[in-house]
Amino acid sequence: MTTEAFAPAKINLTLHVTGQRADGYHLLDSLVVFADVGDRLRFDPAGDLRLTVDGPFADGVPADNRNLVWKAAELAGWTGHIHLTKNLPHGGGIGGGSSDAAAVLRVLNYGADALSLGADVPVCLQPRAARMQGIGGDVTPLHDDLTFFAVLVNPALHVPTPAVFKTLKEKENPAMAAFPAEGVALSAWMDWLKAQRNDLEAPAIAAAPQIADVLTALRGTPDVMLARMSGSGSTCFGLYPTAQTARAAAAALAAEYPQWWCVETVLS
Ligand code: C5P
Repeated sequence: MTTEAFAPAKINLTLHVTGQRADGYHLLDSLVVFADVGDRLRFDPAGDLRLTVDGPFADGVPADNRNLVWKAAELAGWTGHIHLTKNLPHGGGIGGGSSDAAAVLRVLNYGADALSLGADVPVCLQPRAARMQGIGGDVTPLHDDLTFFAVLVNPALHVPTPAVFKTLKEKENPAMAAFPAEGVALSAWMDWLKAQRNDLEAPAIAAAPQIADVLTALRGTPDVMLARMSGSGSTCFGLYPTAQTARAAAAALAAEYPQWWCVETVLS
C-alpha cells in the first residue's frame, strides 16, 4: 500500500545559543515553526530499501545511505521504495533533510533515537510550533496557535552548519525571554520576537556576507515586521501582517533577485 507524507520547512523564529557541552555540541533555545511549503515523500513497501529523488532541488541529493531519509528508514527497520520530491533548498537552515527524515519516522510510527539522525529531527517529528532546547532533543509544543504570514528567501548559498557554530565567538548567551501570556494578540508576539535573536546570524554573515544582502532586501519590503535568519542559514524569513503583503513582498523580491528562492508561506 502506498503512503504519502509531507515534510514542511522548519523555521527558527529565534535561535539562542546558551552554552556548549564538553563534546562540542551547543545548547540551544529556539522557537521553531513550520511552513506550508515542503518536500513530499511516497512509500511503497518492498523487500529492499530504494530511494529515488526528483523535484526542483533534486540536484546533488544523494539517493543512497548518505541521505537522512535512508538512515531514518534503516533506523526504523523498514524496507521499500521511497520517492522524495525535493522542493526545499538543502543545507539552507530550514531543516530540509531533517524534516524528510522526521517524515519517514512519523509515517513508520518510530520516534525513538530521532536525535541520533540530527539535532533538528526531534522537533520535526510533530511539525507544529514548539520550543526546542538542549542540543535539539528537548521539544515542548507551544500552547498558543501561532500563525505568521511570511516570505522565505534562500540566496542559493550553502553554509556548512559546523563552520557557523565554530565561528560563533560567545557561546554563553541569554536564553529566550519568557513567552508572552497565553492567548495574547499577535502584536505581543511580534514585540517578543523582535527582542529575541538568532545568535548564529553574525557568524553566518561572516562566512557568507550575502546573507546580509538578503536581510537588507527583506527589510526593504513594504510592511515587513521582522526579518531574521533561520537555523545556521542561509535562508532568511520576513514576517508580514497579511497574506497579501507577504505575497507582494515575495513577488517583488523574486522579480529583483531572480537567482534567489523566494516563496510566500504561512508559518504555524
Ligand atoms: O545534528 P546536525 O547534524 O544537524 O548538526 C550539524 C552540526 O552542527 C554538528 O556536527 C555540530 O557541529 C553542530 N551542532 C552543534 N550543536 C547543536 C547542533 C548542531 O554544535 N546543538
